[in-house]
Amino acid sequence: MKTVPEIDGKTGICGVMGDPVGHSVSPAMHNAAFRALGMNYVYLPFNVSAARLAGAVEGIRALNIAGMNVTIPHKVAVIPLLDEIDPLAQRIGAVNVIHNKAGRLIGGNTDAGGFLRLLEGRGIDAQGLQVAVLGAGGASRAVCFALASRGAEITILNRTAAGAARCAAEMAAFTGRAFEALEMNPANLARSLAKAELVVNATSIGMAPDVDKSPVSRELLGRRHTVVDIVYNPIKTRLMRDAEKAGAMSVGGLDMLAWQGALSFEIWTGRNAPLDLMRRAAAGALKSYED
Ligand code: ATR
Repeated sequence: MKTVPEIDGKTGICGVMGDPVGHSVSPAMHNAAFRALGMNYVYLPFNVSAARLAGAVEGIRALNIAGMNVTIPHKVAVIPLLDEIDPLAQRIGAVNVIHNKAGRLIGGNTDAGGFLRLLEGRGIDAQGLQVAVLGAGGASRAVCFALASRGAEITILNRTAAGAARCAAEMAAFTGRAFEALEMNPANLARSLAKAELVVNATSIGMAPDVDKSPVSRELLGRRHTVVDIVYNPIKTRLMRDAEKAGAMSVGGLDMLAWQGALSFEIWTGRNAPLDLMRRAAAGALKSYED
């Protein structure tokens, strides 16, 4: 462990703004990384209401905050308040990271990159892979973008058929690939999981406190599937447990969470992030909330 500098006149400030942020694990994850690398930075939670979002963004400029993560419910609303949006974030339609580059605020998205790293880390080659993506919100779009860029064949299932169709049409326009769009009902789930090799839950179903819920009934899961749940609280979701019982490989949202954090860290500091340590810090913070 490196010597940790005291907070002083030169301390760089990063943070996360959202509402609520009281259970965010990002402060634990980033402060662990700063400490481990002996960097003179601190990462703080900022609880920002929707009504105060514009003021908070102006505050990043006024207070010269180095970098900020953006979380629910501000990932879309923050876009018009920034000076520049990188092309990936623009296409995904959501910003989860802001870089203060000499006073210019640049919005980016590390969820898509985080998901790609998760796949690579697990040795999953998406080329030609049949994938069922559940959900059509911001997280789903990041996942779809990542998978399409690697040549996957994607079916998007959403609570409403219209939501699935809108997401599929936009993703097709951005990636030049065809997407299938279906309403997420039992018949369509059965049909798409019969051909899917990879199943990704990008809905919030199964997130605490609804830990006994799963978007997919257990009989539909089998040995042929790899299941990725982007929900990370709880660390092991009902969907993951069911997948494992059915003989499938399952991956939880903690990997993607750690990766998006690591990529944010690298944008702000220009240094390689200590991924494993950040993942452990995030898991530790989650456990402490569970206890
Ligand atoms: P995120 O940024 O995490 O993607 P979001 O944009 O609010 O958050 O998207 C959440 C996704 O989970 C959406 O696809 C949402 O479906 P709707 O578009 O119909 O709202 C889906 N979702 C959330 N709760 C759900 C539930 N109980 N059943 C089915 N889908 C659900």
